[in-house]
Amino acid sequence: MISHRPRRLRQSESIRALAKELKIEASQFILPIFIAEGKSVEKSHPLLPSCKTFSADKVLGYALEARDLGIKSLLLFGTSTKKDAKGSEALNSSSALHKSISMIREKVPEMIIMTDIALDPYTDHGHDGLFEKGKILNDQTVEVLCEMAVSHAKAGAHFVAPSDMMDGRIGAIRSSLDQSGFEDCAILAYTAKYASAFYGPFRDSLGAKVVGDKKTYQMDHRNRREAIRELELDLQEGADIVMVKPAAHFLDIISDFRNVCNTPIAAYHVSGECALLELGAKNQLFDRNQAILEVTHSIFRAGADIVATYFALELAQLLRK
Ligand code: PBG
Repeated sequence: MISHRPRRLRQSESIRALAKELKIEASQFILPIFIAEGKSVEKSHPLLPSCKTFSADKVLGYALEARDLGIKSLLLFGTSTKKDAKGSEALNSSSALHKSISMIREKVPEMIIMTDIALDPYTDHGHDGLFEKGKILNDQTVEVLCEMAVSHAKAGAHFVAPSDMMDGRIGAIRSSLDQSGFEDCAILAYTAKYASAFYGPFRDSLGAKVVGDKKTYQMDHRNRREAIRELELDLQEGADIVMVKPAAHFLDIISDFRNVCNTPIAAYHVSGECALLELGAKNQLFDRNQAILEVTHSIFRAGADIVATYFALELAQLLRK
């Protein structure tokens, strides 16, 4: 006689639904959107169609579509053709990004607006910080990032999301926000952000070509314990939500965070990881929806509370079924 039959709980769709460990809802997704200058821009990345760029006059429709599917957070990225060594355009408070923040805040008040803080959309060398004689200037960069964060908060951002990996930026941004009267503006910190090969479609969307690589500031993918050190620092400095990035290939890091941290944990299923699923599905290696669900569930199962993903809208639809 067989005494244990775990298959009893797998007998039917209803029993599987009853016994499932993960109960995910649309409010746990963050939808990344790129904002372009100009008018009537509505673009999808050719290899990752759910990676979308809109001009300020077009983004509202998409924000409303997201809201109607139960998505509660947008992560907005500026893009610009005005690039220089200092990334000056990052501080232009009349940019398309700033306008979009204010407009979405006004027209879709229940939507949480998160904005990326880093200089790479605006620098001609493609780096996230100030870059001189082959070096990233940490402290000078942090000063600019603080100004950028305050300008986004002024425009109406609920969260700023520093993605630059400069040392000390979470604490510095926290005090700048507080000193400017934005103590309610929260920080989603890219805490363990790795120098990854999987940011390709994202960099296409920014029109960013990086001189060299980002390995002096983004983390080395051979390192696991170092992520905990970054976590401790970001928590001390005042991060409200901590993030692991990329997500699908860094499940161990997400799981480590889950073991030690009482702050919400986000993970970013990045553009190259999502594009792999599109390419595989297109080549009939697997079913697209099944693959998207499986990878997303794995990220949650590893310990993420929140997932930033280009598939947020589709996932919201799939989870309703
Ligand atoms: C840079 C930034 C990157 C991403 C988010 N913020 C790329 C990079 O570090 O070069 C990547 C996101 C993605 O690939 O989806 N500030």
